[in-house]
Amino acid sequence: MSYSPSKGMTPGPGEELPPLPPDFLIERPRRLRRTPAIRRLVRETNLTRDDLILPLFVVEGSGVRDEVKSMPGVYRESVDRIVETCMQAEQLGIPGVILFGVPKKKDPEGHAAWSPDGIVQRALEKIERSVPNILRIADLCFCEYTDHGHCGVLTPEGDVDNDATLENLELQAVALADAGAQIVAPSGMMDGMVASIRAALDETHHVNTTILSYAVKYSSGFYGPFRDAADSAPAFGDRNTYQMDPANGREALKEAAIDIDQGADMLMVKPALPYLDIVRRVKDKFDVPVCAYQVSGEYAMLKAAAKNGWLDEERVMRESLTCIKRAGADFILTYYAREMAKLLKA
Ligand code: PBG
Repeated sequence: MSYSPSKGMTPGPGEELPPLPPDFLIERPRRLRRTPAIRRLVRETNLTRDDLILPLFVVEGSGVRDEVKSMPGVYRESVDRIVETCMQAEQLGIPGVILFGVPKKKDPEGHAAWSPDGIVQRALEKIERSVPNILRIADLCFCEYTDHGHCGVLTPEGDVDNDATLENLELQAVALADAGAQIVAPSGMMDGMVASIRAALDETHHVNTTILSYAVKYSSGFYGPFRDAADSAPAFGDRNTYQMDPANGREALKEAAIDIDQGADMLMVKPALPYLDIVRRVKDKFDVPVCAYQVSGEYAMLKAAAKNGWLDEERVMRESLTCIKRAGADFILTYYAREMAKLLKA
């Protein structure tokens, strides 16, 4: 019988080992991929339930759970239902949720965003009472609350007035912290937003309220389904004067540096998958936790392809989230949080 190095056969007694042909003397990285066990041993990135944050949409009413058409498995829920969903998330081992409000009444400034009985405020209070151990993150922005759908107050010319919006952001931050938000996440991309919010929180003795800044938020087409869910598409124009140009990378580092300087405790890069280079650059340069938001369009694409049988959903869900983590995300906001958590062991 002839000796075959690739089968690892050992020569019998008295048999000579034939010399290896020169083309066997190559590097063999496949040695570390031969069995599931060795792959587990050398795996560099392990996604866990600790990495996942579930975004939720809160609406008025009770008993409401409406599926968002472009986001199968994602619902707009009334406060009572949100509480149930938070209980389920906690049972699945998901550490936290981020809340977006979809109020009935909108106006040019978005007053409902900071009124004490705003929809997210009520949800926060209820969650704190019923599911106290799940981390409560509140998104801070006005596009869901303004009748024009922009992320702040408008100037007469129709541009977003940066500094006037900061004043309202301070009110919103304090209202949400009062209602029990442990983390506030400003997503409006206003200059100076972190400094304003930090000062307002400190003045009202919310010194422990954490700021997760959407420091690096691109003006992205991937937010389409979210705008359906949150009813927040701009009535005119676009967000290009406040959200970042997808073509820019260095600017992300500048935005991140500014926000850390102003007191951001954690940073977000958004969207995730098309911007993994940015996640990596931000992570390498700064020493604060960095998270990434796998946004509505990223989720909708996978759902749609899976529905057509074009992709294996479980596989691409796991792959996408693992790769976002590998790129440097310390945690991930994802509409897949529950589905993924079900597959991950405690
Ligand atoms: C804005 C906000 C947006 C998202 C989160 N916060 C959308 C936007 O800028 O229009 C998008 C999230 C997603 O697409 O899943 N306040």
